[in-house]
Amino acid sequence: MGRLDDKVAIITGAGQGIGLAYAERFLAEGAKVVVAELNEERAASAMKRLAGQGDATFVKTDISSEESANACAAAVEAQHGTIDILINNAAIYYDIDNANNDFEYLKMVFNVNLHGAWLMARACAPVMVKNGGGRIINQSSGAAYTYNIPMDMGEFHEVSAFSYSQTKWGVIGLTKFLAGQLGPYNVTVNCIAPGVTMTEATKKIVPPEFIDMIPEFMSAMKKKLEPEDLTGTAVYFASDDARLVTGQVLCVDGGAFMPA
Ligand SMILES: NC(=O)c1ccc[n+]([C@@H]2O[C@H](COP(=O)([O-])OP(=O)(O)OC[C@H]3O[C@@H](n4cnc5c(N)ncnc54)[C@H](O)[C@@H]3O)[C@@H](O)[C@H]2O)c1
Repeated sequence: MGRLDDKVAIITGAGQGIGLAYAERFLAEGAKVVVAELNEERAASAMKRLAGQGDATFVKTDISSEESANACAAAVEAQHGTIDILINNAAIYYDIDNANNDFEYLKMVFNVNLHGAWLMARACAPVMVKNGGGRIINQSSGAAYTYNIPMDMGEFHEVSAFSYSQTKWGVIGLTKFLAGQLGPYNVTVNCIAPGVTMTEATKKIVPPEFIDMIPEFMSAMKKKLEPEDLTGTAVYFASDDARLVTGQVLCVDGGAFMPA
């Protein structure tokens, strides 16, 4: 018996990295998993890996499109009759351009990382409410709390966009507003803020010297995080054990950030 037997879970961005680890763990816990991913190549390789592990389906989804987010929720409801869990994991991270200060780029990152989570919540919540409740788990980041990393070394040049960090801070706020609204309908909304986790995206984005330095100098546990280190927290938020836990942010980062 799993902790999530027969629960229907949409996991956005489950084509690779942390989302894929969530998908594997949720299948192992007995959930029916929907891989809501935009990148078809990543989705195909994820589906190959998930084959034989349980009930997994792929619904091509662009979380930043109103139409696509609504179509995803409708397709899952049509196939499974309900949506019990939504993990808003997808984001522009692998492809993030931290040096890009253009307003258009900032808006595009907001559209995916923050507004995409809102669009998916808006699309899925009515189905959850109709069926007696549900769980929404948003993915923020330690980046939301990292205020003092200079994006522009040396002489002041211009105000940075902080696109990734701003959106991940926004995800924390969104979590609390959604939790407040959806609580009376038995929908909990919580947030995971992972530390630097060893995914392909991190290996591409974070300079190798920082990958070793971050756990050593920025965390109590002094250990590197693997995607599997995050999955138990998502299971907890989705499980009955957390039925009265809502509006919370849990930093899973080996003790790097310890907000009150
Ligand atoms: N890896 C880390 O160190 C770390 C740390 C903190 C937070 N996070 C967050 O965890 C999540 C996953 O991280 P990751 O390292 O696996 O990142 P990743 O970039 O490898 O995975 C993100 C996935 O989202 C998909 N995606 C992007 N835009 C999409 C869209 N519009 N619609 C649907 N899918 C879309 C991508 O194709 C990709 O498969 C992200 O939200 C990231 O910001 C990661």
